[in-house]
Amino acid sequence: MSAWLTAANRLRTTRILDVKIESPTVKTFTFKDRQCAKAKPGQFLMLWIPSVDEIPLSILDAKEDGTVSVAVKRVGEATEALHNKKAGEIIGVRGPFGNSFTPKNGRIMMIGGGTGAIPLLFLAKSLAKEKSKITFVTGAKTGEELLFLDELGTQCGEEDVLVTTEDGSYGVKGLATKPLDALLAREKFDMIYACGPEKMVQEVLSLAEKHGINLEVSLERLMRCAIGICGSCVIGKYRVCRDGPVFNASQLREVKGEFGFWKRDFDGKKIPIE
Ligand SMILES: Cc1cc2nc3c(=O)[nH]c(=O)nc-3n(C[C@H](O)[C@H](O)[C@H](O)COP(=O)(O)OP(=O)(O)OC[C@H]3O[C@@H](n4cnc5c(N)ncnc54)[C@H](O)[C@@H]3O)c2cc1C
Ligand code: FES
Repeated sequence: MSAWLTAANRLRTTRILDVKIESPTVKTFTFKDRQCAKAKPGQFLMLWIPSVDEIPLSILDAKEDGTVSVAVKRVGEATEALHNKKAGEIIGVRGPFGNSFTPKNGRIMMIGGGTGAIPLLFLAKSLAKEKSKITFVTGAKTGEELLFLDELGTQCGEEDVLVTTEDGSYGVKGLATKPLDALLAREKFDMIYACGPEKMVQEVLSLAEKHGINLEVSLERLMRCAIGICGSCVIGKYRVCRDGPVFNASQLREVKGEFGFWKRDFDGKKIPIE
């Protein structure tokens, strides 16, 4: 069946059930959607804010009772309009879209920068059930922007959550990659999962290669159709919405001319990643 006609791609309307403040700029929205409740960690959905826009969001949680959560950082018009919404208001949902992280049991390293912690928390919850031991490095610009510290402590154990902030107001001062080299040298990890600013993820790839550890990362690109048609999300030979958002190290090597360096703007023009 064409991707256009699938049940996942049909727009459903639903009501916001709950809104939770996570940080000064991030809120979690919970709603019911039976399709997205089947999502696996790493997949994303398209959330329609009526009269404003439709935006891609990673799925933070999906439960058997049909409940789905997304966490949203306020950065522009659509996310601002969503932040102004309250429980009971109507939104639209398409999805779930894209592939998911390959679950790997054993000794796991996760590294999430900023909102990159969102898909990784969903993955951590699912791997923790399989009795994997997870070390989670989470970073943000400031202490008040750190996300889900309590929840990560519950899933991974408090001593296995390492925190970095760029201004040094909480945890280690610096980027989330700062403690990584030493951690990977000290212990043998079976798998690294990463999500965050692309320069950070690029650094994680080179550390994974240095230490000979498998890696999967979740990438972000501009998305419109979410089903591989419009080309907004292209990176090299891949469309991030259809072939990703999760990519492994060998796929990233295939697109090394663009990964960490270039993305497309709303007009399809290549622009540098800062
Ligand atoms: C697969 C994927 C998963 C994402 N998951 C999350 C998440 O869990 N939580 C979260 O807060 N954000 C997430 N984002 C980013 C989120 O989609 C953008 O922040 C949002 O679209 C911004 O819309 P805006 O109108 O508020 O801002 P705008 O002012 O329109 O844009 C601000 C910036 O957001 C990015 N952006 C804008 N529109 C899009 C779009 N259609 N697709 C991708 N990026 C866009 C651009 O970098 C832009 O410069 C994800 C993006 C992708 C591609
Ligand atoms: S968003 Fe249209 S091809 Fe990926």
